[in-house]
Amino acid sequence: MNLSEQTSAEETDRGVAGQWLRNAWYYAMPAHNLKPRSTVHRTILGEPVLIGRDAAGEVFALRDTCPHRGTLLSRGVFDGHEVECPYHGWRFDTAGRCTAIPSQAAHQRPQPSDVRAEAFLADERHGNIWIHVGRNRTAAGPAPEVPILGDRPQLHLSMVFECDLDLAVVGLMDPAHGAFVHRSALWRSKASIHEKTKSFSPVDRDGTLGWRMDRHAASRNSRAYQLLLGGRPETEITYLMPSVRIEHATTGRYTYCGLTACTPLDAKRTEVHHVMYWDVPLASLLKPLIRRVAWNFLDQDRRAVLMMRDGLAFDPPTMLIRDADTQARWYFRLKREVLAAEAANRRPQNPITSMTLTWRS
Ligand code: FES
Ligand SMILES: [Fe+2]
Repeated sequence: MNLSEQTSAEETDRGVAGQWLRNAWYYAMPAHNLKPRSTVHRTILGEPVLIGRDAAGEVFALRDTCPHRGTLLSRGVFDGHEVECPYHGWRFDTAGRCTAIPSQAAHQRPQPSDVRAEAFLADERHGNIWIHVGRNRTAAGPAPEVPILGDRPQLHLSMVFECDLDLAVVGLMDPAHGAFVHRSALWRSKASIHEKTKSFSPVDRDGTLGWRMDRHAASRNSRAYQLLLGGRPETEITYLMPSVRIEHATTGRYTYCGLTACTPLDAKRTEVHHVMYWDVPLASLLKPLIRRVAWNFLDQDRRAVLMMRDGLAFDPPTMLIRDADTQARWYFRLKREVLAAEAANRRPQNPITSMTLTWRS
C-alpha cells in the first residue's frame, strides 16, 4: 500500500476544521456546584451563558447579556424566580420572558411583553449539567446518558486546553500516544508497547452519531484499572459527536464509568471535563490519590496537544494514517456528515461501518 492509499485527503480535516457543531449538547458543569437560587456565568461556543438553578431546583440557561444594554445578567440578583439586571433593574424569568422595566411609564414602549432574553436548553442528569446553545432546539435529542452508577459522580476534574475543540478531541482519543505522553511508573512504559486489535461499531443515539470500541479485556499494561478496580476488567468505550467519550469498565464485581467531555469555550480554549463514577469501596478511600493521578494524566495530554498546536501553527502538511488514526478520520467524517445533514435539513446518517483496527501501543 502506498502512502496516498493510507491517507486520503477527504478523510482528513479539510473544510470542517475549526467549525463547531452548534446543535449539540456540551458539558457545562457538575450539578453539585450549582446551588438552588444561584446563577453562574460560563462561555460556551463563544456565547455568554447564564446557568441557574431556580427555587424548585430546576436548572435553566439564558444568554448572559441583558437585551437592554448588554450587561451581564449573572452579575445581578436572582431570587430563585427572576433575574434582575444590575444596571437598570429589568427583570427576566427563567424562560427569558421580561417581567419588569422599571424606567418605563405605562404609555411607553417597550413594555416587558415586547422584550425577551434568549433561553438555551439545559439538562441535568447523572450529576452533570449540559447546555445546548444551538438555534435548532426542536431537533435536540436528550443530553448524553452515562451508564448509571448513581447520580453523584465520585470525582470531577476539569482543565482548560488552550487550543480549539478539534485538537483537544482528536488529541485525547488518539490511541498511540500512551507510551510516549503518559510515560510514568503508574502508567505505561515504552517497553510495554504491543500489538492490539479492537473491534468497532457505529452508534446512533437518537440522531447523535458516534462509534463504539466494543467490549474487550482491558490492556495488560493499563495499571490505572488495577489501581481503581483491583483487577483487569472488560471495557467498552463509546464516542458521541461532537466531544463525548464514555468508558464503562467492569470486573463483574466492580464497575467504573468515566465520562470525558470537551466544551469549546471559544476558538482558542477548550475545557476538558473528566467525571468518574465507581462502586469500589476502597477506591473512595483513595480518592485524593486518584484525583492526583487523573489530573497529571490529563495535564500530560494537555501538554502534548499544545505541542501539536504549536507545530500546526506553521501549517505543515500532515497525515492521518490507518489504523492508528482511523478514529480521528471518523471524527472528521462524522463532523462533515452532521454539518451536511444540517445544511440539507435531513437526519444525519452514520457513514461508519463495523470493523477491526490494529495498532501497537
Ligand atoms: S442593561 Fe440591563 S437593564 Fe439596562
Ligand atoms: Fe492521553
